[in-house]
Amino acid sequence: MSTLASPSPTKSAPIDAREAMERLNAEAGKVNIWLRTQANAPAQRPWFRDTGTDTAGEVAAGRVGANQMKAAPHRWRWRDIGPFLDRIAEIARSSDVPPIEFAERQQFLLTNPGLGGRLQVTNTIRCAVSIYNPGDVAPVHVHTPNASRTILSEDGGYTVVEGERCEAKRGDLILTPHGTWHDHGNDGATPVTWIDVLDFPLMEFLDCVWLDDEFLGERAGNIRAQAQTLANGYSHRLYGTGGMLPGFVSHRRGLSGHATPMIHYRGADIRNSLAGLAGEPGDPYEGISLAFVNPVNGDPVFPTLAYTAQLLRPGEATRAKRETTSTMYVVIEGTGATEIAGRRFDWERNDIFVVPNFLWRRHTNTGTADAVLYAVSDAPLMEKIGQYRAQGRSADGAVENLVA
Ligand SMILES: [Fe+2]
Repeated sequence: MSTLASPSPTKSAPIDAREAMERLNAEAGKVNIWLRTQANAPAQRPWFRDTGTDTAGEVAAGRVGANQMKAAPHRWRWRDIGPFLDRIAEIARSSDVPPIEFAERQQFLLTNPGLGGRLQVTNTIRCAVSIYNPGDVAPVHVHTPNASRTILSEDGGYTVVEGERCEAKRGDLILTPHGTWHDHGNDGATPVTWIDVLDFPLMEFLDCVWLDDEFLGERAGNIRAQAQTLANGYSHRLYGTGGMLPGFVSHRRGLSGHATPMIHYRGADIRNSLAGLAGEPGDPYEGISLAFVNPVNGDPVFPTLAYTAQLLRPGEATRAKRETTSTMYVVIEGTGATEIAGRRFDWERNDIFVVPNFLWRRHTNTGTADAVLYAVSDAPLMEKIGQYRAQGRSADGAVENLVA
C-alpha cells in the first residue's frame, strides 16, 4: 500500500526543479544514494566525432559521484617539486629517526588536481618521486602492482630484482613486474633520486592490492635485503640484444609466469638506440619512438602499462593525436612544449606531465638540441578490454582514425 501523501490541492508557483533536485541530492547523500540531477554530458557525447582540440571533458556540477571525477592535464615542474626532496633528505640527515624508517620511503606522490586528492596522476597510474640517502635501504618485498623506476640521478643507488642487482644511472628504466621480489637502496656517497611508477590505482580499484615482506630466500649481509644471486647485467646479457632468446634458461617470471624477464634498460643504451634512429623519418605523431617490450613474446612490458621513449629533433613538432589511454611523461632531456586540449605546457629536464584519456596533444621541441621523453600509458589494458582507439590530425587539420 502506498504511503505517499496526496498532492496538495492548492496550486502554488512552480518550483525551480534543478535547484530542488540539487537540494534533494545533498540530502540523499546521507543514505548513500545519488539522484540524477543533470546529464553527465562528457560521458554521453560521442567523443570520437567531437573534433575540437580543446575538448577537455567536464565534471558535472553539484554532488557528483567519485567515479565522475576527471583526471586533468597537468604538469609538475621539477623546479617546484624537486626542492621538497632535498628538504626530506635534510630532515633524514638531521633527525634521530629518518623518515624511511617510519614511512617506508622518503618520497612524495604526485596528485592530479582533477582527482580529489587521490594518490594518482591518472585513473590508472601512480607516480612517486623518491630520494635515498647513502645507507638507506628499502627492505625486500613483493606486491601485486607492477612498478618501475626511472632514474634521475646521474649515478648511485640500486634495485635488486629476483637476485639481479641493477645499478641505477640516469635515464635507466628498472622494472619490478608484479610478483617479483625487490629491494632498493643507496650504498653510494651521494643521495639518489628516481621516479616510481605503478599501476596501483587500477589494482586498488579492482581490490587486488597485496604486499608480502616475508622473504624466504637467501638474504644479503644486510638482513633486510635479498642476496645478489645473479651477476650484474644478467637480464641485459640474456635479452639485451633483441630478436635473440637464450635457450638454456626459463623465461618465466612473476605472478603469472608471463612477466617480462628483461628488467633493466640502461639509459645509455636507450639514448644510443634513439640516436641511431634519428635519421629516420619517424612518426608524424610521435617522432622517433621506441617501445619497451617483453623479449619473450613482444608484448608491452606489463600487461597493464606500456613504456616508450621518444626523441624529438630540434624544432620538431608532432601532429595532434589523441588516444583512449592515460599517459604520463617524464622529460629526460631537452626543452619543449606539449599542447593538451588546447592548453600549452612548457617543459624542461625532469618535469613530469600527464595527458588524460582522449585529449588532443601535440609535442614540440622548442630547443636547439634533441629532446627525449619517456612515456607510460595504459594502452595495453585498453587494448585488452577492446577500448583502444586513436585519432590524428593530418597536416591540413582533418581528423583521421589511426586505430578505430
Ligand atoms: Fe615495491
